[in-house]
Amino acid sequence: MNSPTSTPSSSPGNDPRSRGRPAGVKDLAARDPLEHVEPGESQRPISLMLVIFLATLFSWAGYYAHRYGGGYEPLIYNENAYGLAAAKTNAAEKLDPYALGQRVFGNTCARCHQPDGLGLPGQYPPLAGSEWVLAPGPARMIRIVLDAVQGPIPVKGATFDNVMTPWRDTLNDEQIAAVITFVRTQKEWGNTASPVTPEEVAAIRAKTKARSAAGPWTVAELQALPDQEPNP
Ligand code: HEC
Repeated sequence: MNSPTSTPSSSPGNDPRSRGRPAGVKDLAARDPLEHVEPGESQRPISLMLVIFLATLFSWAGYYAHRYGGGYEPLIYNENAYGLAAAKTNAAEKLDPYALGQRVFGNTCARCHQPDGLGLPGQYPPLAGSEWVLAPGPARMIRIVLDAVQGPIPVKGATFDNVMTPWRDTLNDEQIAAVITFVRTQKEWGNTASPVTPEEVAAIRAKTKARSAAGPWTVAELQALPDQEPNP
């Protein structure tokens, strides 16, 4: 922009084209702006910074969608699905199992047992006030969440004969312990049983590994068990 040719209004004495002209001869050309229109660049390349910025933005967006998209699965959101053990490394969740339990319940159990834990008459049994949930020990409930239970099953005086999904392969020990603790201690539902630890879940998971291939538990099998695990 400081080049002399682009500043026609600058003093003629400095203009290289007027050098050698006799003094007093006006350099009219220098005053005519049209004579001095420089050809401008008609195409400018996109700024490299902009290209880098957009590339970074798109890669980040792709990564974000992949990482947090839950596989675009509308019903099941599992933060471990892609091998990123978020629940294991997330210190905040470790400190607050209640929040984890609430989230797991909302994402996995509530669609059948309903957000208020009351279930749906004739289809899904209630967890609020259920004798299966409120048993003094969690041995049966841990098995139900790991491998599910098949009806007919009596719950609070009604009989249910539907299908529950097993969670052995989807939820880890922390998540199962947290959701069972959340359900057993949910005071708004009148549930005041004892909490459950990930270690208790891990012990029963290992002990029932072979049994899980046979499908959901039957009511008879569960009732034959002591509700407190003998050696946790
Ligand atoms: C696909 C629907 C479905 C989902 C999801 C589901 N359940 Fe169930 N659950 C059932 C059904 C149905 C039964 C009764 C079994 C039957 O009818 O065959 C049952 C039974 C139970 C029982 C024993 C009966 C009772 O009401 O106390 C417990 C405890 C239980 N579920 C807990 C859970 C928890 C905790 C979760 C979430 C991790 C969960 N369920 C997710 C459908 C579901």
